[in-house]
Amino acid sequence: MKKKVLAALLSVAMVATLLSGCGKKEAPAEPAPTETPAEGEEPAEPAEAEGGDATEGSADLAGKKVGVCIYQFSDNFMTLFRTELENYLVSLGFAKENITIVDGQNDQATQSGQIDNFITQEVDVLIINPVNSSSAETITDKVVNAGIPLVYINREPDEAEQKRWADNNWDVTYVGCDARQSGTFQGELIADLGLETVDKNGNGKIDYIMIQGDPENVDAQYRTEFSVKALTDAGFEVNELFNQVGNWQQVEAQTLVANALGQFSNDIEVVFCNNDAMALGALQAIDAAGRKVGEDIYLVGVDALSEALENVISGTMTGTVFNDHFSQSHNAADAAVNYLTGAGNDHKISCDYVKVTQDNAQEVLDMVK
Ligand code: GAL
Repeated sequence: MKKKVLAALLSVAMVATLLSGCGKKEAPAEPAPTETPAEGEEPAEPAEAEGGDATEGSADLAGKKVGVCIYQFSDNFMTLFRTELENYLVSLGFAKENITIVDGQNDQATQSGQIDNFITQEVDVLIINPVNSSSAETITDKVVNAGIPLVYINREPDEAEQKRWADNNWDVTYVGCDARQSGTFQGELIADLGLETVDKNGNGKIDYIMIQGDPENVDAQYRTEFSVKALTDAGFEVNELFNQVGNWQQVEAQTLVANALGQFSNDIEVVFCNNDAMALGALQAIDAAGRKVGEDIYLVGVDALSEALENVISGTMTGTVFNDHFSQSHNAADAAVNYLTGAGNDHKISCDYVKVTQDNAQEVLDMVK
């Protein structure tokens, strides 16, 4: 089991970090032992294996309908997330045919129609990765009015919206990691190298470019802000040469970084990408420009996609940050179960990111593969 491997392979300190920030309904160190029940068999008892939060009623999960809305299937990280979510829901005892996962195609109108359909179909619980976090209020209102519990994932609704859930005691929660931490870890990956190593042009500053994800999304906003803040907090002077939106996409990032390298040439010392897909695009542009990561330029991403981890191992990426899709998907499924059994949830369930360097990249790769 992946989580077991996680516990075994990451250092004690990292595991402590991973677990310390987790919410009340933190997924266990290991998923439920039995997987999909054979036909005609009773499903696995889910909740007892999950820390005893959900008890009575849990055996009926096979008959419960789960609607899952993903903002866009073509997103690499959300593909890892939804695959793990479905597998874990089945391991808890939900029937595969009762789990419906739909692609919002990065269009809020499309996703809103999908939510309406799920409401008409009377699903028992909804798990939603909104296209626009700013649409959360409208989404929440319609789902709550329909009497369906709601678990938001990955794209965090703002504080005012989360406060409404608490004030009204609604069955609505958000499951995700704090994007500020991922940005801070990215900045630290560069700060830890030291100014002498990074400051190739000798101007006493760290000259960087920033490739952002979809700026509507707090993950993009916070990673952009906190990666640079970690550098200035560590006492470095910084110089931003270029800051553009790559929408989480490899191809867009490749074009942007090629343009930046054309414009600023050897002055670029650091490439910050809000995720690994874009870092992989950046790496293609860096290679094409004849630059060498680890020698004359430094490159960091977030997510710990397998390909990015392989680059960290070989030194062609400086580092990345593990965006724990195991904890997040398990916590989301556990939260759904807790609503179905009446155990309830906190209105926010969080987990930690893990900083990945050449030292631990192989361990993380063994876990995510
Ligand atoms: C981030 C992830 C990105 C992208 C985004 C979608 O957490 O790092 O790669 O998947 O979520 O909202």
